[in-house]
Amino acid sequence: MKKVLIINGPNMNMLGKRPKEHYGTLTLEELNERIREENHGFFELDFFQSNCEGALITKLQECIHYYGILINPASYTHSSIGIRDALDMCTGIKLEIHLSKVDEREDFRKVNYIRDVCDKTFSGKKEESYLEALRFLKKL
Ligand code: DQA
Repeated sequence: MKKVLIINGPNMNMLGKRPKEHYGTLTLEELNERIREENHGFFELDFFQSNCEGALITKLQECIHYYGILINPASYTHSSIGIRDALDMCTGIKLEIHLSKVDEREDFRKVNYIRDVCDKTFSGKKEESYLEALRFLKKL
């Protein structure tokens, strides 16, 4: 079965307590459950979240040959060359995800080190951003 990593960065473990207008109401576990339901056994899913840059980089290195990676680097989107470089080495299909309309928010969120090493971006639709990305991957 093809393996897909769903990897989330800092503060994503606090979903449900973060500003709802940007991030919706689901907890991370509820979000992951929605993704599992959407997947319906199609891919082997590997879920990972960390608040630490190094842990995210190590996980990406471990998953370097996965078929697909759905990544929401959260605030590291705007600061991490290390995550970008790790992602660049990954050989599978890489999809950048954001719950919020990240390009329409503060100017500092317009800096994005991740986008050009990803194949496609899904953002601004809260949990639906992840579900759309998974559907996209299933159809390829
Ligand atoms: C986010 C957007 C980032 O700017 C922010 O730092 C996050 C979440 C999103 O999913 O909309 O933590 O990646």
